[in-house]
Amino acid sequence: MKQVIKGLGGRPFTGRFTPPPDKSITHRAFMLAALAAGESEVINPSSGLDCRSTLACVEALGARARWEGPERVIITGTAGHPTEPVDILDAGNSGTTTRLLSGVLAGQPFFSILTGDASLRSRPMGRVTKPLRQMGATISGRGGGDLAPLAINGTRLRPIDYALPVASAQVKSCLILAGLAADGETVITEPLATRDHTERMLVKAGARLHVAAGAPSPAAAAPAAPPSRGRQVRVPGPQILRPFSVRIPGDISSAAFFLALAAAIPGARLTVEEVGLNPLRDGFQRSLVKAGIPLETRAAPATGAGDAYGNDAYGDEPWGDITLTGPQSFRGLNLEAEDIPDLVDEVPILAVLATQASEPSLIRGAAELRVKESDRLAGIAGQLAAMGARIEERPDGLYIEPSRLRGAQVRTYGDHRLAMSLAVAALLAEGETSIEDFECAAVSFPGFGEELARLTSGGSTEGNEAGGHDGARPKDGGAR
Ligand code: S3P
Repeated sequence: MKQVIKGLGGRPFTGRFTPPPDKSITHRAFMLAALAAGESEVINPSSGLDCRSTLACVEALGARARWEGPERVIITGTAGHPTEPVDILDAGNSGTTTRLLSGVLAGQPFFSILTGDASLRSRPMGRVTKPLRQMGATISGRGGGDLAPLAINGTRLRPIDYALPVASAQVKSCLILAGLAADGETVITEPLATRDHTERMLVKAGARLHVAAGAPSPAAAAPAAPPSRGRQVRVPGPQILRPFSVRIPGDISSAAFFLALAAAIPGARLTVEEVGLNPLRDGFQRSLVKAGIPLETRAAPATGAGDAYGNDAYGDEPWGDITLTGPQSFRGLNLEAEDIPDLVDEVPILAVLATQASEPSLIRGAAELRVKESDRLAGIAGQLAAMGARIEERPDGLYIEPSRLRGAQVRTYGDHRLAMSLAVAALLAEGETSIEDFECAAVSFPGFGEELARLTSGGSTEGNEAGGHDGARPKDGGAR
């Protein structure tokens, strides 16, 4: 489906918005609840397509989900003993589903196959199949086990001591989940700290795990580099999780599209409510502040009581509100490898924002973006260039000069974050932009077009994704 969006002409907007529930945290809630011994409660889960894929997979593995209204699901877990699925598990577009579940499946005494859509089948899985094979699982897949479909013959796993070659929360979480079923202590060291939603939720589920500063990152060896932010997680196995109740905060990665739009329009004012403020996901906010875009963050009082295993900071996710007022101008957005894990999904929207800066911006150390739902460096560079941006793609990043954007025909490559980034670019551009395959936004943010139209109601967004919202959309046209 095509979405046609007219530029706002720099007209400021004022509004409040509650982002959709966090996708990363919802995946973990569904998976850990499916492993727990009893009934867990997940309040406010993401209804994005990715999380639906996870829920369908865990149901196929014997967990039972009972919805009590649209915002509350009770999951009866398998007490660490999922059942052999009778059919192929379909992860859809979701790398998180595939990588985290492969860690669960590797430790089960049965056969399973995991696959997904064309994008997912092109993404590197060797980063999980290699260590899982070292733990004793038999895994085959295309390209020697690097590409889905992955066929997994699970077994009783051996623990390993593994240093991740790339900073990836998905790989770390895969190995933590495998470690829960292993005979002994699994040790995972990451080169840079990545989002710790799995660790926090495991503490809620009564798991024993230990988190400490890890080995120095390769970057830390270089002179003048910031100190290592690596971490080490140790998971003793086997262990069975106890059921838990979790409320999912709003997704900062979804909120980022709206915050970037407000940041780029002098005088625009936006408050984002009940959004996750995990310090390993806050790189977007920090990069805005560094560029001179003021933000006000109000964290809700911590509710987590910590846990009995010395991980006091864990057990709950921080959340709160963020208010931003678009400044008259802001500096370039410069990012280094060390900055990437905390804002990895926000790089495309930061590239859009960088076109509006008063100075050039340079993003480096972001080669991981090439293996996301699409090659996001090539995708955003190509599509913003089509809109008149002066942007250069580099092997590991982007160079962006201050640019005037103009309406164009652009495409999303079926990537939800490119779709939403381009929608924001369209509102900042002169004229009209037509975005192909816009429906993929629903992977993480169903109703994104509607929300965008509501907040910017003077501007016009048309298409058939949004489906109307309180008359906020000036025209309710179909796809053109
Ligand atoms: C995710 C981790 C990130 C991120 C993805 C979700 C997660 O991937 O890009 O959207 O939920 O763990 P990597 O950890 O592979 O960088």
